[in-house]
Formats: sequence, structure tokens, C-alpha cells
Amino acid sequence: MSSGYTSEFQKLIRNVEATRPKRIEIAKKGEHFPALTMDQRKEWLDLYHPDYKDEGRRKVALGPNKGDILPEEVAALLESRTMLDIDNVDLTKSDYETDVLVLGAGGSGTAAALTAVDAGCDVILATKLRHGDSNTVMAEGGIQCADQEGDSPYYHYLDVIGGGHFSNKPELVAALANDAPLTIHWLEQLGMMFDKLPGGRMKVRHGGGTSRKRMHSAGDMTGAEIMRVVRDEARNRTDKIKVLEFSPAVELLTAKDGSVCGAILYNLETKEYYIVKAKSVVIATGGFGRLHIQGFPTTNHYGATADGIVMAYRAGAELQDLDSTQYHPTGCIFPEQNVGLLITEKVRGLGAQLLNIDGEQFCFPLEPRDVESACILRECLDIEKGIQTPTGRYGVWLDSPMIDILHGEGTVRKELPAKYIQFKRYNIDISKVPMLVYPTLHYQNGGLAIDDKSQTNVAGLYASGEVSGGVHGRNRLMGNSLLDVLVFGRRAGTSAAENAKSIKAHPDATLNHLKAFDKELKKAGVTDPMTGPIILPEYTPEHVKSRQWD
Ligand code: FUM
Repeated sequence: MSSGYTSEFQKLIRNVEATRPKRIEIAKKGEHFPALTMDQRKEWLDLYHPDYKDEGRRKVALGPNKGDILPEEVAALLESRTMLDIDNVDLTKSDYETDVLVLGAGGSGTAAALTAVDAGCDVILATKLRHGDSNTVMAEGGIQCADQEGDSPYYHYLDVIGGGHFSNKPELVAALANDAPLTIHWLEQLGMMFDKLPGGRMKVRHGGGTSRKRMHSAGDMTGAEIMRVVRDEARNRTDKIKVLEFSPAVELLTAKDGSVCGAILYNLETKEYYIVKAKSVVIATGGFGRLHIQGFPTTNHYGATADGIVMAYRAGAELQDLDSTQYHPTGCIFPEQNVGLLITEKVRGLGAQLLNIDGEQFCFPLEPRDVESACILRECLDIEKGIQTPTGRYGVWLDSPMIDILHGEGTVRKELPAKYIQFKRYNIDISKVPMLVYPTLHYQNGGLAIDDKSQTNVAGLYASGEVSGGVHGRNRLMGNSLLDVLVFGRRAGTSAAENAKSIKAHPDATLNHLKAFDKELKKAGVTDPMTGPIILPEYTPEHVKSRQWD
């Protein structure tokens, strides 16, 4: 028995072991715990999913989506005021000028930069932390693509639309599914090492809500492998792509006609502001995971604080489905140091099952994520069948030893090397004992509204990846985020370049949109707004903040 578990846990694991022989027998017959019916799914979501409750949500008081009901944390940020002293910013000069300015250098921003360069433009790629620090690099389980016999973009399209509860923008889903084979081909050309079968064919698996096996992977580090190749490619193009690290954007610049024409960056090291004038701007700044909506832990990287949404909203960009948050069903809940970290859906794709304190299965392991999370929340919060950790959290078992039993000794270490090491550090061997999991905030389902060219409703402004909305509707399926960041990143780069080439000279830059937003704040009666964007989340506890140092 792995000694990383307390003796209390070790006792409870016996319940898991007791039900395992029967579960193995069923799995070997190709059978599984019955999936919920559509009516049951709806009922479970209504009762247990945080998005379907009134608590922690309110109307946003101003801006293009005035009146929308959003999570409190998001509404407050949309009603925030700028950190700039707008009357004292000298916009007659500029620190940099470029054709295309890309904000955010994860997978999407980097893909946009590459396609804009291919279309003949110069690019500045500005990012909050280092090039590649993003949710892309942390993505584990895979990227979807219908490129196998018996599958087609048609089925992929249907799965995405169904998974998103039919609220997706159909033209975006069509773009996602149709561009997928091209995108996988592009990654292979850049040198990506996909998991393959001995004959050289792609190894593919199911994800939650997929009707065909189309999950392509690189172990459980698919995002890191994608980021490796796109970042290398961008760093090989330094003649055309200038990368500015530790330089988050804090505001957009607008021309007199309201179109976007650059941004103000804040250098985190020197604490200086930089004015960048551009003919087109792509926002690829990622999502809002670090807002910890409803107090959930998160899988997200440190910089995921919704900055792009805040800046674009002030410039008049419309939002779609921003009230919809994805809680990944299997976040780590023990050991405490790992709380919130992702346990990839690939674990369930390989046959691991979710079990309650009695070692009983309570749901089909590959329901769409929102439904699967609702099932776990029900088990832990409603019917009290969760397992309590020493710090008072609750979780359920994810029976990972099933994987080696079903696929052969060594499969866990081969298919899930990062997860294996992550737990082994704490003396937990996940090929021998189950993990404890609970939903964790994983993804911002909605975001800036875009069309299938990644264009927002504001001229000169493009958006791609998690910052944008409409692709996944109100629930994203596994593996469609890595695909989305690349498909729409590439589309954004192409569209931004086309627009830049149509503009002769940089227009005069203004902050008129901020002045107007400031007036709107007053009119809406927002008296004590917070300052935004946040840039980095604040975790220092009050008792530490208030310490006096001589
Ligand atoms: O479970 C996962 O590996 C996550 C993948 C995703 O969010 O697409």
C-alpha cells in the first residue's frame, strides 16, 4: 500500500478493492455503468451544477452586455476602472509600432503570430509572463480531430454542438471541426510527437461526450508538446516576431472611429508602461480560472485573470456565454499541495472509474464534463457519500489501478507519466491505489463574441482561444480547447494580417473609450469600483499583508 495515504484512507481503499473484481468483469465484457438519460442530465445539472444556481451571480451594470447575469467575480471585474491616469498618458509617441500586435503568448497567440507572419506582416507578441506560460502548456489529455475511418468532421460537429447544449455558434463549430485535420497536419509538420500505434497510425481514444475515438495525445503532456513546437517555430522567426515577455497589456488603444489600434503594456520588471501602435490587435490572453469563481480551486496557470475580457469590454466588445464556467470533474483534492490540479480525463478514457466512500460506482465515467461534475457534487454535498480529507475537503475515488488491470502492467506509467510522477512525489503510486478527486475550475466556456474569422464586433480587434466565446457553447468537451486555440489562433492571425495590410498608416491613438467607460461607470452608480485588469491573483492572507516590517 502506498504510504502517502493516511491509515483512515487505507481502510477506505479496501471498499474500492472489494468492488473491483466485479467491475473488472463488467469492463472486460465491454459494458459500463449506464449513462444518464437526457432528462436525468438536465435534472442533475439543475440541482447540483454551480452555473444553474442563483447564488454568487448578479447583473452586470454597464457595457455592451449590461443586464447579463454573470458570476459576481466577473461582474465586478467588468465594472472595474482603469489603472491608468488617462489624462496624463502621452499618446503622441510610441515605444513600438507594428502591423499586428498579439496579446498573450500561449498556444493561440503564438499560432496567430505565426500565421500573421506567413501572411507578410511584422508581429509583436506581448505576454504577461514567459513565452508559453499559459493553460496550453498545462493541457494534458489531448486534442480532438476526426481523421480516422468511421469518423468525420460531421460527427465531430454534432458532438460539440450537443456537448454545448446547442448554444454554440454553428459557424464556429463548423470551422473547429473542419480545420482539425489541417491543424493536426500542421503540428506534425512542426515536429510534434503524437502517440502512435506500432504501424505509425495515430493512437486515438474517447473523451467525455464523444461518439467516436478522436482524442490525439502526447502522453499526458499534449499541451506541453504543442507549445514546444509552436514556440520553437516562433522563436525561429525573430526577424518578424518580436516577443515581449513580462509585459501584460493593461489597456487597448482606439482610433477616433472606435477601431482598435494598439495597446498599453505594463512591464512587470521595470514597472514602466509601453505604448504599442498596431494596425490590428489579436487578444489571446486566456480565461478567468484564477478568479476562483464560487471559491473553487483551479487547474489554471497563474496569469489566468481575464485581462483580455476587461480591456476589450471597455473598448465595446460584446460577450457571449460568459456566465458559463467549466468545472473539470476530476481535480486533485489530496494531497493538499496538489489541490485543484488537473487529473486528465484520459484517466477515465483509459478505464478508471469514479467511486464513492463505499466503493460504489455512481455515474458513467465519460458523461459530458458539466454532468460528470454535477454527479460528483451530488455524491459529496447532497447524499454524503464523499470521502473527507484531513483538511476538511471532500472528494470521491478515481480508481486508476483499473488501467493497468485492463490494459497491462506499466500502462499508467507509459500513458500518464506526468500524473504518475506528480503523485509518486507524495508516496502515492496511482497504478496501485486510487486518487481522490473533486471538481476544479478548469475553463471559461464563454468570452468575447467572434465570427468564424475570429473578428470581434470592434474593428481591428480579433480574439482567439479561451478568451473568446461561442465555439463550445455552454460546455466544452475535452480536447476541443487545444484544437480551438490553434484553429482560431491561426484564423485570427490571417484575419488580423489581412486587415493590417489594408491600412496605410497607423491612425492617431486615443483613450476615448476609457473616458466614455468612466462616464458610464458613474452613470450606472458604480461608486467604488475595483481596479482592473488584475494582472496577477492575490493570495497573500490578510494577517500576512498587515504585518509591519521595520
Ligand atoms: O482532462 C483533460 O485532459 C483536459 C483536457 C481539456 O480540457 O481539453
